[in-house]
Amino acid sequence: MPFQLTPERDKHADELFTRYPTKRAVCIPLLHLCQEQNGWVSDDVIEYVATRLGLSTAQVKGVVTFYTMFHQRPVAPNVVWVCRTLSCEIRGGKTIQEHLEKRLGCHAGETSADGKFSLRKAECLAGCGQAPMLQLNDELYENLTLAEVDRIIDAVAAKTPTQAAPAASHAAAAKE
Ligand code: FES
Repeated sequence: MPFQLTPERDKHADELFTRYPTKRAVCIPLLHLCQEQNGWVSDDVIEYVATRLGLSTAQVKGVVTFYTMFHQRPVAPNVVWVCRTLSCEIRGGKTIQEHLEKRLGCHAGETSADGKFSLRKAECLAGCGQAPMLQLNDELYENLTLAEVDRIIDAVAAKTPTQAAPAASHAAAAKE
């Protein structure tokens, strides 16, 4: 079945068109709205956005593949982005990445076996003065230690039911 926004989100989408100068400028916020509902940007979502904006699917796909914030495959309910850029790298970002890979049993681009977390690497998260840092869903966590990382993961894991890992999450790792 073709992708459709829920009535509430559809209304939100209508409002977006009043806030941007051109239809094309609505592309990113509309993609966010669709991803919020669908969990990721599937081909159906790309088709929907292209039709709604009067763009080609290639144009929309170009946006989706340019910005890492759009998931091109299914992800877990919790996405952990570990900053790998210079300030974080110098202050232990790589150690945090390795710690999370061990703790979650998956590499960047993959999802944990319990389906609770997808792990990603991020370019600068704009908090270099508070390095090392990570983003978990919409929250930023700064000045991290491994103990703090464990505390964050424990708290979120406790609130997230175990679920089937998204299909193809492991195969996707090499592309992340
Ligand atoms: S380098 Fe990590 S937040 Fe900027």
